[in-house]
Amino acid sequence: MIKDEFIVIGNPIAHSKSPTIHQLFGEQTAIPHRYGRLQVELGDFENTVREFFTQGGRGANITMPFKQEAFIFADLLSERAQCAGAVNTLKLLENGNILGDNTDGIGLVADIHRRFNLQQGAKILILGAGGAARGVIHPLLNCGYQLSLCNRTQSKAEMMIDDFAKVGSLSLHKDGDNRDDYDLIINATSSGVGGELPPLNPRCLSPSTFCYDMFYKAGKTPFIEWVTSYGVRDSADGLGMLVGQAAYAFYLWHGVMPEIEPVISSLRKEMI
Ligand code: ATR
Repeated sequence: MIKDEFIVIGNPIAHSKSPTIHQLFGEQTAIPHRYGRLQVELGDFENTVREFFTQGGRGANITMPFKQEAFIFADLLSERAQCAGAVNTLKLLENGNILGDNTDGIGLVADIHRRFNLQQGAKILILGAGGAARGVIHPLLNCGYQLSLCNRTQSKAEMMIDDFAKVGSLSLHKDGDNRDDYDLIINATSSGVGGELPPLNPRCLSPSTFCYDMFYKAGKTPFIEWVTSYGVRDSADGLGMLVGQAAYAFYLWHGVMPEIEPVISSLRKEMI
């Protein structure tokens, strides 16, 4: 029996911080917001989500590995979800339809703007060409930034550049290139999960470069540790993006934007 009105669905899900984040949002805004977590076996996604909404569920966050399935499941899609090709937030609409949205990209943009002072037209290098990179390209292009893409498997970066050609122009950064005029370098690879670094020529790092790692962990991620050793301007990990995407999901469900900063501070303290 599913008792919560809001839920995060994934596999694995035990370590998800979303229930804590949403509990803090509910307390902060005084909006009743019962939010649980559910691990779903591969192949059971559609049945489980349908059952959740039939039994009184109002909204769901979707995490790995179900974001593509949620994209297919949704009755209608926001523009952000269409551009990302993935859904991280579902909402039951009054007419019974399920809306699929993607708040990952806006969560990243909000966090970058919170942390770094980027000028209009800033040059950004994105490392990685998987789902994480795909989800943030459109919101970054929308801000008017100039994007370059680099991936360990170059052909995947080339394909993604082609995919986005109708939305905006991205240039290819080849492994080993030593351009040093990037204002911001974003690690959107999953290399940090295995304690590894994404391939990047250290000559791309200068005292004027901001660096952002979409991965986060207690202490410094391998990427943040590495770029810090080259004396970059400032760096941040993805905890703020996590809270940001959750805040935009909360806003979609309740029409109220919670404060992000105190929730990041609270999680950071817990992680030490
Ligand atoms: P996600 O959906 O989280 O982005 P994904 O689609 O599996 O996950 O993509 C993972 C990305 O991280 C890819 O760009 C991958 O590079 P490849 O396309 O060459 O596989 C990148 N990646 C993963 N581990 C990496 C590592 N150790 N070093 C560099 N890049 C890595």
